[in-house]
Amino acid sequence: MKKFLIAGNWKMNKTTAEAIEFGNEIKAKGFSNAKDVAILAPFTQLTELGKALEGSGIGFGAQNVHFEPSGAFTGEISVPMLQEIGVGYCIVGHSERREYFGETDQTVNAKLKALLQAGITPILCVGESLEVREGKGEQTFVAGQLIADFEGISAADAAKIVIAYEPIWAIGTGKTATPDQAEEMCAFIRGVMGGTYDNGTADSMLILYGGSMKPSNAAELLAKPDINGGLIGGASLKVDDFAAIVDAAAALA
Ligand code: PGA
Repeated sequence: MKKFLIAGNWKMNKTTAEAIEFGNEIKAKGFSNAKDVAILAPFTQLTELGKALEGSGIGFGAQNVHFEPSGAFTGEISVPMLQEIGVGYCIVGHSERREYFGETDQTVNAKLKALLQAGITPILCVGESLEVREGKGEQTFVAGQLIADFEGISAADAAKIVIAYEPIWAIGTGKTATPDQAEEMCAFIRGVMGGTYDNGTADSMLILYGGSMKPSNAAELLAKPDINGGLIGGASLKVDDFAAIVDAAAALA
């Protein structure tokens, strides 16, 4: 049976009051597949969101973290700080962080290692720009990201990492990759993991698609054999839209 993870990436949206309201409303949906659902919220909302979701089975997590456990890094948040709140997940290497905040494959690699050591599931984002896609370089580009990001990580640890394939040209643009384009890249990513590690590790990994996933296109994307779910930005901000995507995954599980 195919495994799923439907993860909402709120980005820099919602106040804590709004996060609590969302948490209460989504909990009330009583999803049968609640354990396959997670919400990635801004740091300031995590404690209260975690409380609102308590007992629902729905996971929650952060959108970024620093790789050092403590120190003189003004404005940063460490893995132990996230652990204290009880987060289950943390996004690493989102294209917005790579583009606007100087995230590199080296910092991504250090963050993955720090999270794995703490038992927090990283959701690693990879994906190419429109320019790379137009030059037909998407596979070379994404393989390069994966090899650098997984440097020095064992097969046992790699199996714990969730990968989100997010073509930059499809994020927040309303322009979704076609199900075939998304499947092709998710299958390619699984192949790279198979080559780096082994097929058993690759087959056990959750590989998500992200980029303008919404209720109207989720079922078709999620039905693809190598797509284990979605990392959902815009459509995760409204309870009913997000719930519709969760239900689409439940129908396929
Ligand atoms: P989007 O964002 O669903 O709004 O395109 C996805 C993401 O950036 O994770």
